Amino acid sequence: MSGVWVAPGRVNIIGEHTDYNGGYALPIALPHVVTCTAAATSDGLVRVSSRQHPGEDTEQPITGLAAAQVTGWSRYPLGVVHEYVRRGHDLTGLTLELDGAVPVGAGLSSSAAVECAVAVAIRDLFALPVGDADIVDIGRTAENSYVGAATGTLDQSASVLCTAGHALFLDFGRDEHAQVPFDLAARDLELLVVDTNTPHRLVDGDYGARRRECEAAAAALDVATLGEITEVAAVERLGDPVLRCRARHIVSENARVLAVVAMLREGRDPREIGPILTAGHASLRDDFAISTPQLDTAVAAALAAGAHGARMVGGGFGGSIIALTDAERTGHIESRITQMFHTEGFSPPRTFVAIPSAGAHRVL
Ligand code: GLA
Repeated sequence: MSGVWVAPGRVNIIGEHTDYNGGYALPIALPHVVTCTAAATSDGLVRVSSRQHPGEDTEQPITGLAAAQVTGWSRYPLGVVHEYVRRGHDLTGLTLELDGAVPVGAGLSSSAAVECAVAVAIRDLFALPVGDADIVDIGRTAENSYVGAATGTLDQSASVLCTAGHALFLDFGRDEHAQVPFDLAARDLELLVVDTNTPHRLVDGDYGARRRECEAAAAALDVATLGEITEVAAVERLGDPVLRCRARHIVSENARVLAVVAMLREGRDPREIGPILTAGHASLRDDFAISTPQLDTAVAAALAAGAHGARMVGGGFGGSIIALTDAERTGHIESRITQMFHTEGFSPPRTFVAIPSAGAHRVL
């Protein structure tokens, strides 16, 4: 038994760092996917290879992954295999060939795309009774426990649950989701993604530090998660100025997600969400303190060149921004950002237009 599966990267319209705080987010899946060509075998081994890492193939006993000395990119697929085994699934053997077209280190969830492509491949190959929510949880657990990045479930949820033409409204507190129509082309709009070419890594300490600060703020406010707080004024009683800022971002960001979802559901002109996206950037920069000069420059250049709204996306400390632009202005905005990066002495950015695409599925 063999086949080919794909899982996409994502870009988040609004709702950053809210996932592990029991809040809300609104991602879309990208057309960029990780492809997993997989076969079931019977020799008790898992073999993984990646087109992007030639000469770094690895082969491990499938039940020995907990103790295996695994480093580098193969921790992501092997973490998923290990998580299936840990949950008691009997995998007889596997070959996994990966080919990734999601930009790495760009804040576009290349890791989750690997995890979800492998997770759906294994489910289908072994006909396992595993639902989409389990796939999300298997990917997240692999990333938390095997890779060692303390992420939430935003990326895996987007990679599995998104549908073409829609944004995905995620309610992490209630563990619910809904599709929200998101047809920018019908309004002559585009969502420009600008990868600032400054890679970030979730296993670096900054992401985990923000998570611990949010947990400390929740404890000081006597709630299980900051998602329980709906009034921004409620965080002002936090004595610690750093925790107050972190909490303010989470509470205000959740309100921004709800506002954007309400506007899209009402069928309002998506241009109207632009200022909310830009406010989200200010909050990530000033209150959450995860922006960089490259991200701030890209946002400022996009807005100065006529974007309706722009903000950094993903975990922060590098990666990409999005800009909501009239389709006829996209080229102009791209070139202004590129010019500005040149003036500032930054590496050239990479740009593309994001089309809301399908979640993980089998293709062959
Ligand atoms: C990374 C993490 C997600 C989420 C975002 C920020 O992508 O993997 O869980 O926290 O950062 O919104």
